[in-house]
Amino acid sequence: MKKNSSIKILAIETSCDETAAAVLEVSGKEIKTLSSIVKSQIKLHAKMGGVVPEVAARAHIKNILSVVEKALSASHLALSAIDYIAVTQGPGLIPSLIVGVEFAKALSLATKKPIISVNHMLGHLYSPFGQLTSQPANQLASLFPMISLIVSGGHTMLVLVKNIKQYKVLGQTVDDAAGEAFDKIAKLLKLPYPGGPEVSRLAEKGKPDFEFPRPMINSKDYNFSFSGLKTAVLYHVRDFPKTRPADICKAFQDAAVDVLTTKTLRAAKQFKAKSISLSGGVAANQALRAAIKAISSNIKAAFFVPPMNLCTDNAEMIALAAAFMLQNGYKPKKYKSISANSNLKL
Ligand code: KG4
Ligand code: ZN
Repeated sequence: MKKNSSIKILAIETSCDETAAAVLEVSGKEIKTLSSIVKSQIKLHAKMGGVVPEVAARAHIKNILSVVEKALSASHLALSAIDYIAVTQGPGLIPSLIVGVEFAKALSLATKKPIISVNHMLGHLYSPFGQLTSQPANQLASLFPMISLIVSGGHTMLVLVKNIKQYKVLGQTVDDAAGEAFDKIAKLLKLPYPGGPEVSRLAEKGKPDFEFPRPMINSKDYNFSFSGLKTAVLYHVRDFPKTRPADICKAFQDAAVDVLTTKTLRAAKQFKAKSISLSGGVAANQALRAAIKAISSNIKAAFFVPPMNLCTDNAEMIALAAAFMLQNGYKPKKYKSISANSNLKL
């Protein structure tokens, strides 16, 4: 990392159905976002009721150049002023990941700028930390150990963050991810795509007089399961077809939020967490945000959640993760040594 001067990172994210690019400037401990562009493919996939990997990859190919150009022009920097190219290496949909990774490699080859290959989940993990970076290092240290709940369309994870460098996955979903469950419930109820926000919107109007099961809520580990909950909803819809969709959404959301909150609280107590963070697309859910905030305050732990635009996929969080990786001693790589990895582990 360059000493006594700022470094600029151009980050690219194409792991699923958002084509995104961002430019970040790091000066010492201070990290500033200069631009962040997200080109959503929602309209494209809405017709199919879900993300079709081949279609997503084609859209990434079509959009990536203009998204990167827009991010550079909004940052008022020329490509030559960039020091590092960060890119999401995985996990994600392989056809989508390949577009971002190969684009970053081509940029790196042409400009001789090194690549920082970022785990998408590390992006989500670090996404609430942007607001911390102006704090002195000793205040940052006072937030650890931290329990981090990452809930997205592809993952559900509880992570013990021992300090800004060290983290350990405590548990994850054994079947569907939390966001996937929201999306499947939406599909079952024939709600418009994308399902998660639609289910949470309807849930606000629900007043169910029934409950759905809370799978694995009492299991001793920190794993989750959402497929049984989805099946319970399916049977309810089949057996009680007159139930109002809003009531089903509320009962489902209550069950999902209860399981996520209970396990997060248990982990926070076991590891004497000084703070709890919530991130990933499902962190946009207001009921979940409120519930995790409430347990944090009950155990007097600080609570961190990214702003709404950093909950769902974006390149700003990838640039942020890259900045922390550099601060933690990561050595950027030559383009030849990088390839997309759909199963990359945290
Ligand atoms: O992090 P993300 O953009 O993509 C992945 O990395 O998977 O998360 C997308 C997921 C989708 O499943 C979407 O339905 C869910 O986040 N989501 C929500 C809400 N907003 C987005 N789920 C519940 N409530 C919401 N308000
Ligand atoms: Zn994501």
